[in-house]
Amino acid sequence: MAEGTPAWGVATGPDSLKEVVYTESELERRVQELGEAITGFYSDGKELLVLGLLKGSFIFLADLVRRIRRPLHVDFLVASSYGDGKVSSGEVRLLYDPNTRLRGRHVVLVEDVVDTGATMDRLIPLLQERGAESLEICALLHKRLTALEKEPRWVGFDAPDEFLVGYGLDHAENYRHLPYVASL
Ligand code: IMP
Ligand code: MG
Repeated sequence: MAEGTPAWGVATGPDSLKEVVYTESELERRVQELGEAITGFYSDGKELLVLGLLKGSFIFLADLVRRIRRPLHVDFLVASSYGDGKVSSGEVRLLYDPNTRLRGRHVVLVEDVVDTGATMDRLIPLLQERGAESLEICALLHKRLTALEKEPRWVGFDAPDEFLVGYGLDHAENYRHLPYVASL
C-alpha cells in the first residue's frame, strides 16, 4: 500500500485493493482548488444550487461545498446504472428526484466519476428542461473514455480506466468510506 494509507485500509472490504490512486492529501488539495474555481466562476448574485448525484458524490460534495465561499443550497438526485457489477449496464434510471426548483438558479451537478458518460448524457437533457440560469458539471474523476454531450467544467483528476473505490465510490456498496481512492 502507498505511503499515507491507513493501516486499516486493506481490511475494509471483501476484496483486496490493488493500489492507492489518489491519497487523502491529494484529494484534499484538489478539492480545495475546485472549490476556489467554482467560487470564482459565479460572480453574479444569483442563487447557486449544488446538486449531488447519490450515492457516489456524498463525500466529495461534503468536502467541496465547504470550499465554496458564497451562498449556496445543496440537494441530491439518485441515478443508477451499475447494479452490483463493475461494468456499466448503460441503462440509467432516476430513482429519486426531489423536484427542486432549478429555474433561475445556477446549478452545479456533482458526480463522483464519469465512466461511459451514459449517466451524464441522460441526466443533462432532463435537467436542462428545468430552466436553470446555468448548468455545469463538476466531476471528481473523469476516465475520458468518450466525449460527453456536455463536458464537465471542473474535473478533479483524469482517472485511469480501472475500477476505482473509496471517497464515496463503491463496489457493490463496499469501500465508500475509504478516505482515499484505490483501484480494485
Ligand atoms: P457512467 O454512466 O458509465 O459514466 O458511470 C457513472 C456512474 O457509474 C458513476 O456515478 C459511478 O457511480 C459508477 N462508476 C463508474 N465507474 C466507476 C468506478 O470506477 N468505480 C465506482 N463506480 C463507478
Ligand atoms: Mg456507484
